[in-house]
Amino acid sequence: MIVKSIIEKFGKSYSVDDDTYHMGIHHLLGDAIARRFIGRKTCLDACAGAGMMAIHLAKYVGKVIAIDINPAHLEQARRNVATASVSNKVELISGDVMEILRSLGTIDSAFLDPDWAKEGDDKENHVLDLSDMVPPADRLLEKIFRKTENVCLRLPKSFDIGLLDDLPKHETETVYLDGHKKFHCVYFGDLVTNAEMSELDISS
Ligand SMILES: C[S@@+](CC[C@H](N)C(=O)[O-])C[C@H]1O[C@@H](n2cnc3c(N)ncnc32)[C@H](O)[C@@H]1O
Repeated sequence: MIVKSIIEKFGKSYSVDDDTYHMGIHHLLGDAIARRFIGRKTCLDACAGAGMMAIHLAKYVGKVIAIDINPAHLEQARRNVATASVSNKVELISGDVMEILRSLGTIDSAFLDPDWAKEGDDKENHVLDLSDMVPPADRLLEKIFRKTENVCLRLPKSFDIGLLDDLPKHETETVYLDGHKKFHCVYFGDLVTNAEMSELDISS
């Protein structure tokens, strides 16, 4: 992995591999999304990857609980939260969020970033059904809503947002970087700040 592209995407020379590089959120977008969580006490980062969102969330919330099922990803996250000097605000837990949720204490917000990559080399080839994501985003939402209504779910840019009509009241934000569509964020509860549909376009 070329250090220059890691710094361009994430803002620092963080520890990533091919997968976590592609999955990770660009630092300018991550920061803008994390600002919606300002004032929250405890945020669950349900699928932490190399910890890029956990690092942004840690700037704005009291505490982040970051879970990932892949030990290699979690090890990268451990190094990266240290590089970002936020280790004291991020608790890292290795395992399946669907299991860990049962024993998790109180949270007042959650960022859900399930894996939507399809097998193969085409990194833009995404699953387009909540139930096909890993972990299944429909079941994850159901379990999370028992803990908090203040939720953000990240979804692929080609996702049919009409499929979300049956979910509780929400705002779907389409996120662009330099005018290029990147993904959607679906906000619930107090994280909703706009009408049902909104756009975020950040210039790098
Ligand atoms: C899209 S990536 C997250 C990227 C991260 N938000 C970032 O900004 O760097 C999805 C992550 O979900 C993890 N994952 C998949 N199934 C999981 C599960 N059942 N419990 C916890 N993590 C899981 C994967 O290992 C992967 O690291």
